[in-house]
Amino acid sequence: RVLDLAGKHGHRGAPALVSATVAPAVTPFSRALTIPPVLSPVRSTTDTDVYRMAIKPAQADIFPGLKTDVLTYNGLFTGPTIKVRSGRRVVVEHTNATGEPVAVHLHGGHVPAASDGFPTDTFDPGAVRTYDYPNRQPGATLWYHDHAHHKEAEHVYRGLAGFYMIKDDYEDRLELPSGAHDVPLMFRDAQFDEQGQLVYAMGGFRARTTILVNGRVQPYFRVKRRKYRFRLLNTCLDRDLAFLLGADGTGEMVQIASDGGLLPAPVPATRVPVWPGERVEVVIDFTRYATGTQVMLVNDRGGDQGTREVLRFDVAGDADDDESVVPDVLRPLPDIGTPTVTRDLAFKMDLATGTFLLDGKTFDPARIDQHVKLGVTELWRVRNDDLRPAIPHNMHLHLAHFQIVDRDGVPVTGHEAGLKDTVTVPSGSTVTFKVRFDDYTGRYVYHCHLLEHSSMAMMAQMEITT
Ligand code: C2O
Ligand code: CU
Ligand code: CU
Repeated sequence: RVLDLAGKHGHRGAPALVSATVAPAVTPFSRALTIPPVLSPVRSTTDTDVYRMAIKPAQADIFPGLKTDVLTYNGLFTGPTIKVRSGRRVVVEHTNATGEPVAVHLHGGHVPAASDGFPTDTFDPGAVRTYDYPNRQPGATLWYHDHAHHKEAEHVYRGLAGFYMIKDDYEDRLELPSGAHDVPLMFRDAQFDEQGQLVYAMGGFRARTTILVNGRVQPYFRVKRRKYRFRLLNTCLDRDLAFLLGADGTGEMVQIASDGGLLPAPVPATRVPVWPGERVEVVIDFTRYATGTQVMLVNDRGGDQGTREVLRFDVAGDADDDESVVPDVLRPLPDIGTPTVTRDLAFKMDLATGTFLLDGKTFDPARIDQHVKLGVTELWRVRNDDLRPAIPHNMHLHLAHFQIVDRDGVPVTGHEAGLKDTVTVPSGSTVTFKVRFDDYTGRYVYHCHLLEHSSMAMMAQMEITT
């Protein structure tokens, strides 16, 4: 059977020829949430931790009694988490034990160009590649994932993604929930066949209806009556998510951080949208619920057929140890000055050829699209010209975090008022942000972070010089 996915193009504009499949049944909320393990360094010096990872095929335990073939970092579906203090250097030695060239990108990392995982800077099967991350940036939730040109969507889909957390002293002093009460949650969608194998078809968005949390389908998570910090990350290729708390959708979550770390101030919310590539951190206070209450985390993306109840919190007992707080002031935004350079960018698909274009072009690693000066404050106006069909795009900038000025002239709210590296640009709208490249010179990409679009070369390149 072949699904008819909106005619010529799939839901997000990608060409689609997708078979319908039926995933193995899962008893909802019968298995515990897993937390990706924190990777230990293979050696450390006074200022550096060295880690080793093997990028390799493995089998994941997603459906009871079945083994799912996946691609992994170190055999783990949801790669191991790297945790580091701000200012402490990390070196990661990756061995490619897959059958294809790969590149590892640290999304949200301020890293030298040679370690950014440029799409054509891949390393071959059998090769070892060392990435060097200075971590001279404030505490934030980053993630690492594959970025091999034209293959990043499929590689991420098959499992090549993991968390990378930077912590700092300023943040520690705020006494937000920490330790076991600081929980990373990676959300992704997938299509499975009857044997529990991943099905990947470019443009197969509508068929990817199973949503996994840290690699499991509809897990439960046992919580005490206290505050928890959750680091929400959407690694779906094309699917945007929006979270509600509780079956009636009225539970309060307090947003405290976005892509680049802490917000200036906490923002209470009952609906928390998270687009692919974005991180949104929330604090949930479970003292509001009696022991025995089951609190559902609901994906409220209307119209799509994805899993709705994605995770269940089971409130089990009092916590006498909760001294965590959410202070009224978190971290003021850095003052990056007044922009003196303006750039206009446009996402637009060429309907005749089905080509995904950024400023009318597909990615060419030999072409420089923007010449940027180090230390100059810039204004970027990013427009989405895909009106019919209405296709969303998702702007992602490597290397720097930006501050959104407005959407179509309207100031932004919630987590969008913080430091960002990824932002959704809905059909027909313009997002304006300011940014200053302060760290490194060299060539970096920016692209649509609906990864099927970037895999089809909706990507461009900037060169930063002094
Ligand atoms: Cu999350 Cu260029 O990538
Ligand atoms: Cu990135
Ligand atoms: Cu796009």
